[in-house]
Amino acid sequence: MTQLLTTRLTDLFGIRLPVLAGGLQWLANADYVAAAVNAGIMGFITAASFADNEGLRAEIRRCRDLTGGKPFGVNVSMLPKLAEGERTDGFFDVIIDEGVSFVETSGRNPEAYIPRLHAAGVKVIHKVPAVRFAQKAESIGVDAVTVVGAECGGHPGMDLIGTFVQAALAAQSLSIPLVIGGGVGTGAQLVAALAMGADGVLIGTRFLVADEIPAHGDYKRHLAKADERETELILESVRNTARVLRNETTAIVKQLEAQGNGDIETLMPYVSGQIGRRAYLTGEVARGALSVGQSVVFADRLEPLADIVAKIEEEAIEALDRLGACCEGLSLHRVQS
Ligand SMILES: Cc1cc2nc3c(=O)[nH]c(=O)nc-3n(C[C@H](O)[C@H](O)[C@H](O)COP(=O)(O)O)c2cc1C
Repeated sequence: MTQLLTTRLTDLFGIRLPVLAGGLQWLANADYVAAAVNAGIMGFITAASFADNEGLRAEIRRCRDLTGGKPFGVNVSMLPKLAEGERTDGFFDVIIDEGVSFVETSGRNPEAYIPRLHAAGVKVIHKVPAVRFAQKAESIGVDAVTVVGAECGGHPGMDLIGTFVQAALAAQSLSIPLVIGGGVGTGAQLVAALAMGADGVLIGTRFLVADEIPAHGDYKRHLAKADERETELILESVRNTARVLRNETTAIVKQLEAQGNGDIETLMPYVSGQIGRRAYLTGEVARGALSVGQSVVFADRLEPLADIVAKIEEEAIEALDRLGACCEGLSLHRVQS
């Protein structure tokens, strides 16, 4: 297939379309990431889904088989502060050992790990929820940065600035390749992000209904019916704001937070990752803090990931055509000025 768009992101990752499929705990496994790579975008196996390093290693090897040796990435989500028992170091050992090409980091500043990753030839894209953190990431030598806006599924940070503002602001203040995420679910948004100065987009929520996502069909059917109002922000009280699907859990957690009972010990029994994992396995979405962003409205049917990517590409072409049709004055303007 032809390369429709060439940006610093397509060059950095060797991809056909400037789209990244971000890390998804419990869901971004080898099948999903290989489907992304084989569709011409880049995906990241999510390290935190594995109980131990050997589980991650086996998944990396499985992905290599599924992509026929094409490069892919691993997501390493870190806690805001280095904590005892954290497995970050071990994950990076496996990533380097296995010759993984790309890492998406999130959470705290990855500075301490950059020299080791770069020495091993691993490219690092760091994901942040605010432009000032992106500037910091640029200063410590990451290869690219993703800025997500308030619309995103998962962690939008504490400032909750929308993606449209973040994109324009980030493009003005960064020199390294820039990816914009948060609420992106259509090819027109991809073109808009490029127009604002980004090199590509990051997508999480729009891909949750893909056939390759290892979750129960009832979960995907629920998302396919959901519109842009079906998400809630929780956990602001513990400075770990999350955008999740509205359900029984969000009602309880919001009530506890409003009553001032928003400490992590009280909230954990409702929001622990294991409850979310159960929801993915059973399709019962009433309980669990299930990361979902506002772009769930665009995730309207269950289909192969390649078909979703193809749709985004077609929409991008339509958007470019629309721009072309309204820009006839551009060449005249150039001649005259
Ligand atoms: C179900 C789900 C799980 C996620 N898990 C992770 C994760 O483990 N690590 C991470 O860095 N980001 C995670 N994210 C965030 C995504 O990688 C991405 O930044 C976000 O989904 C982009 O915004 P969007 O949902 O509006 O497309 C998750 C998002 C979703 C929807």
